[in-house]
Amino acid sequence: ARPDITLRVATDPTATAGAAIAGKSGGDDVPDHMPDLEDIAPLYDAKSENTALKRYKSDYVFSLSKNKQYWNKRATDLITWDNYPFDESSCDGIMTGGFEYGDVAWFPGAKLNVCSNAIDRHVQNGKANDIAMIWEGDEPDQVLKFTYADMLRKVSEIANALKSQGVRKGDVVTIYMPMIPQLPMTMLACMRLGAVHSVVFAGFSSEALSSRIAASKSSVVVTADVGMRGGKTIPLKKIVDDAIGKHACKDIVKKVLVYERERSIVPDGNIATDGNAKCSGNTPQINWFPDRDVNMNDILPKQRPYCPPESMDAEDASFILYTSGSTGQPKGLVHTTGGYALYAAHTIQTTFDLQPNDIFACVADCGWITGHTYVVYGPLLSGGTTVIFESTPMYPDAGRYWDMVQRHKITLFYTAPTAVRSLIRFGDDIPKKYDLSSLRILGSVGEPINPAAWSWYYHAVGEGKCTIVDTYWQTETGGHIITNIPGVTPMKPGSCTLPLYGIDCIVLDPMTGKIIEGNDVEGVLAIRRPWPGMARTCLDDHERYLATYFRPYKGYYFTGDAVRRDKDGYYFITGRVDDVLNVSGHRIGTAEVESALVKHPSVAQAAVVGRPHVIKGEAIVAFATLTESNTEEDDELVKELRTLVRGEIGPFAAPDIICITPLLPMTRSGKIMRRVLRKISAGEADQLGDVSTLADPSVVDTLIALVGRYD
Ligand code: WT7
Repeated sequence: ARPDITLRVATDPTATAGAAIAGKSGGDDVPDHMPDLEDIAPLYDAKSENTALKRYKSDYVFSLSKNKQYWNKRATDLITWDNYPFDESSCDGIMTGGFEYGDVAWFPGAKLNVCSNAIDRHVQNGKANDIAMIWEGDEPDQVLKFTYADMLRKVSEIANALKSQGVRKGDVVTIYMPMIPQLPMTMLACMRLGAVHSVVFAGFSSEALSSRIAASKSSVVVTADVGMRGGKTIPLKKIVDDAIGKHACKDIVKKVLVYERERSIVPDGNIATDGNAKCSGNTPQINWFPDRDVNMNDILPKQRPYCPPESMDAEDASFILYTSGSTGQPKGLVHTTGGYALYAAHTIQTTFDLQPNDIFACVADCGWITGHTYVVYGPLLSGGTTVIFESTPMYPDAGRYWDMVQRHKITLFYTAPTAVRSLIRFGDDIPKKYDLSSLRILGSVGEPINPAAWSWYYHAVGEGKCTIVDTYWQTETGGHIITNIPGVTPMKPGSCTLPLYGIDCIVLDPMTGKIIEGNDVEGVLAIRRPWPGMARTCLDDHERYLATYFRPYKGYYFTGDAVRRDKDGYYFITGRVDDVLNVSGHRIGTAEVESALVKHPSVAQAAVVGRPHVIKGEAIVAFATLTESNTEEDDELVKELRTLVRGEIGPFAAPDIICITPLLPMTRSGKIMRRVLRKISAGEADQLGDVSTLADPSVVDTLIALVGRYD
């Protein structure tokens, strides 16, 4: 039976992106595998008219068949360009290049500044006093509200401060900061100057930070004395000092710009505050290196509060973001200004129906792509209000998200399935205590949302009235690529549903690379044509970019994910096919954890796999052989290894289980058979498959016994 639900969604289905191109729907040439509404069950969107889905399908077809006209229309609707050399009749040059050489360019020659699109134009368009940003500090009573006019002043001051320290267009600025208002403001200040930001998540260790600073040859690092999360103090400046002291960073960093957290969150002058923004005034002691370190709170008051924005080419780099792949070295993906900004605004307005009066809370950290696109750029480019959340879902208790929704009247809320799962065990009574009636759309990102978590999110949080958008995308894609659209695409728990406009998704046979047509099929997920938000290269390693994304399946962008397209044409992501783990929504390369483990003098060889975990999605299981023949379970050593991984990568990458083993499952040619480790770790030793190539088959029983100890 169909649930009887009243949608709170305000979307006018006919106002979707493609439909805005008046009277130019694509006709009936809809791919066979797309569903008709009557066919879809279970159906969670009773109000969604079949006409809306029909409209989606014809818009989708239009967005592909008239791809350049489609993006021309979106680009002129959503972005204010300094110079835009295309129009509807001459939009051939809107996109050049392709997947073969990875020389894709969108809107080449067009000019814009992303920061002035995110701030100035709203100030100029009568929205100076609208709230751009609500900062919710670690303590629930630490709240600051910044209008668009405040943002223009503050971001300008920071931009001028950066300039005074030598930052110029094209320079790379590493940002290692807590989620205080100055984090997004510093990102925007870089954008204003045309400097390329490289935000490193403040949970990464000094080792990981130092390799990212070195790889991007970033001579300026912006940080804070400390960060606060869940009542705990994190000594960020000290970690930066350690990172810069490492050999890899020798002679690279010239300036470290330091915010004092306490001074930075004082509600100065005009900045509005809710409750009583607390400030202890106790600034922790940190080391200062006078030739290198600059106190931002001292130099900001001296800056002129207006800074002219640099006009950038649409294809200039806007930021670098490091992410994990199948080798030990994280890759620095490079995003653009024009295509990225357009894609951020386009997707948030399509997927979340974001309107200027919405209060949008994406609770991700700015250190990940989700924070870039949906905490900072998407909401501000759209003139909305974005919430910057410094704390955790559990602090001070498991009601924190809902308390925040109630206090700020949040309308759109976006989190990861792992957070939802961690809250379920505290029961329905927790969300029930709060007034959640302001919510209209709930988002999920980072991994497939299992039906139990979906159902809790839908009923206990959304009270059966909100659309859940299951947004599938990657650091590389810049923004959502497969997701349902509220009021348009009927939902199916666990499915990210159908591709967004302009995204030409295909399913490939992993072995032959041939396109698999039709429904009720499985394969690997690929994309057949460029889209504006895609990353353009790996920093200083274009070869790796080509090898990772475009060579595995010639002519296509390869996502690295396996997928099932069900009988209705709905996509279900079934997991990575490369050696990348997804632990609590964090992407971790098994090779990175392995290279950390083998740094220990006692470890000869290490192999890392994931195994299903009820809350984290995946847990990290590490196997290690030792240099000496001591194979006894050694608690001290296991502790040391865990500490080692925390120090090399960060606490979030520490293995859940470390098995010291006399041997690993090797083939006769000396390759580790990870499949065997994965199956044994998952308790599926009965499904090992063909193990005839194992050099020593007795390893299987040894490993089963070892892993058994942890069940
Ligand atoms: C990988 C990308 C993009 C934001 C956060 C993660 C997995 C992401 C979903 C989803 C199933 C998902 C994929 C993807 N993933 N969203 N809605 N359903 N899987 O970004 O760190 O670049 O990781 O996360 O495996 O490839 P990322």
